Amino acid sequence: MEKLLLPKDGLFSYTQDMPKKLTKKQKQEALDTIALQISQCRVCKKDKIGVAVPGEGNPDADIVFIGEAPGKEEAKTGRPFIGRAGKLLRGLINEVGLKEKDVYITSPVKYLPKHVTPTPAEVAHGRKHLLLQFAIIEPKVVVLLGRVAALAVLKQNISIAKEHGTIVENDGIKYLLAYHPAAPLYAPKVKAEIIKDFLQLKQIVKT
Ligand code: URA
Repeated sequence: MEKLLLPKDGLFSYTQDMPKKLTKKQKQEALDTIALQISQCRVCKKDKIGVAVPGEGNPDADIVFIGEAPGKEEAKTGRPFIGRAGKLLRGLINEVGLKEKDVYITSPVKYLPKHVTPTPAEVAHGRKHLLLQFAIIEPKVVVLLGRVAALAVLKQNISIAKEHGTIVENDGIKYLLAYHPAAPLYAPKVKAEIIKDFLQLKQIVKT
């Protein structure tokens, strides 16, 4: 993956002055700055509903979960993955022995789109915020939940049905391809697949 490019408009200039190694507190402050930028970003807000959903969790997380775009519940509260799919995701995180307070959860698109699936332009724009969040958190593993997450981060059109469970390594980060947690709401069989894929996480973090 290409290195983080700082946009010329200065929107992301915070990282230019960033020290090499950030403390947990500095990481939280940097994430708060990005959240503020997202809440003021006119491109992010275009054709969207509700409040910004920048992400939440441990600023020093080893594992980051990436979804698609907030839903209605999230757009009301500003918190990611708190609706039906979110409850399932949080349940699965606990089920595989991880703790919600140790991970970070976000999406490439930070507002609820008026249309169902985010457009390629929306995903490409969201990527800038996402790469900044990765640069600050420095996760060991990023879990790409569904096709949109994989497209946003890896810039590749991936069949999750075929490739879920696969790990792609890039610039020191391991990316685990997985189903979006909304999938088992429509196809209950998928839940077992997600659990199997997530069960790899503890081991991947260690290697
Ligand atoms: N789906 C997502 O991808 N993100 C959320 O925050 C909620 C549902």
